[in-house]
Amino acid sequence: MQAVGVIGAGQMGAGIAQVSAQAGYRVLLSDVSRERAEAGKAGIAKALDRLVTKEKITGDARDAALALIEPVEGVAAMGDCALVIEAATEREEIKRAIFADVGKVLGPQAILASNTSSIPITRLAQASPDPARFVGVHFFNPVPVMGLIELIRGLATSDATVETVEAYAQSLGKQVVRANDAPGFIVNRVLMPMLNEACFALGEGVATVRDIDLGCQLGLNHPMGPLTLADFIGLDTCLEICRVLHTSTGDPKFRPAPLLVKYVEAGWFGRKTKRGFYDYTGPEPVPTR
Ligand code: CAA
Repeated sequence: MQAVGVIGAGQMGAGIAQVSAQAGYRVLLSDVSRERAEAGKAGIAKALDRLVTKEKITGDARDAALALIEPVEGVAAMGDCALVIEAATEREEIKRAIFADVGKVLGPQAILASNTSSIPITRLAQASPDPARFVGVHFFNPVPVMGLIELIRGLATSDATVETVEAYAQSLGKQVVRANDAPGFIVNRVLMPMLNEACFALGEGVATVRDIDLGCQLGLNHPMGPLTLADFIGLDTCLEICRVLHTSTGDPKFRPAPLLVKYVEAGWFGRKTKRGFYDYTGPEPVPTR
C-alpha cells in the first residue's frame, strides 16, 4: 500500500501512526496545526524509546519507524495516500469538516476511514467524497497494546473497501472483527453499559471507588476496574457514547448515570484532566470517593 494518512495526532491518532509505521507504512500525520502533529510524533518517539529500553524492538527498528512518519500541515499532502484514517475529536461536525477537506484531495481509488467509536458510519459516509470508499476502522486504547480492530461497514461501503482495510488491519498484527453499522458497534455496545452501571452503583452508594474497581477487576478477571477504565477512556468520551446509544436506540437501559453527567459537567474527564473517579496529581492514582 502507498502512504497512510492519519488525521488527529492525539492518543488514538498517534497510536495508529505508530503501529502503521512499525508495520512499514509511510505515514502522513496531521492535526489542527503542524505543531500538534509534531508533538504527536514526539510522543511516538518516546513510546518507541520505551520499547527499545525494554528490548522489544531494536534501535534500528525505532529509527526506521520514526523516519516513516511525516508530520504535515493540514490534509493537502494526503492526495497520494491509499488510505486516510480520521482519528479526530469525537464530534460529528468536526469530522464532517475534515471529510469535506479531505474530499478535495483524496485520490480516485483511495479509502477514507473513521476511527469513530460510536457515530453511525452510514451517516458519516454522506459527508465523504464516496460512501463506497468509506468505512469505520475502530482501534482500541492503547493502540500499540490492544490486539483488536473493529471494522464497520456502512450501508454503501463496497466489498473491495472492506477487504482492503481488513488486509491493512491484519498487516498491523491485529485481529479484525466485522460489525454492522449499529449503535456502539460490538465492543462499546457491551462495554459502555457496564461502565455506566459502575457509575450508577457509585452514585447510589453501593460501594466505594476502590471496592467497585477491585470487585470487578478480581471478580471478573478484567485488567482494570470499570471506574479506572472509564477514567482511562475519558469520562467525556464515555458520556458521549452513552448518549449516542441512548438517543439512537431510545432504549432507557442506555441512559447515562447522573454521576457520570455531573463529573463531565465539572470538567473531571479522568486521566487527561488529572481528575476523574481518581485523582492523578500524585505518583499513584487516589480514589476520590
Ligand atoms: N501505550 C503503549 N504501551 C502501553 C501503554 C500505553 N499507553 N500502557 C501500557 N502499555 C504496555 C506496557 O508497556 C506493558 O508492556 P510489556 O508487557 O511489553 O512490558 C503492557 O502494556 C502492560 O502494561 P503495565 O504492566 O504497565 O500495566 P498493566 O498490566 O496494567 O496494563 C493496560 C496496562 C494494557 C492498559 C491494561 O490495564 C489493559 O489492558 N487495560 C484495559 C484497556 C482497555 O480495555 N482498552 C480498551 C478501552 S475501550 C476503547 O479504546 C474503545 C473506545 O471506543 C472507548
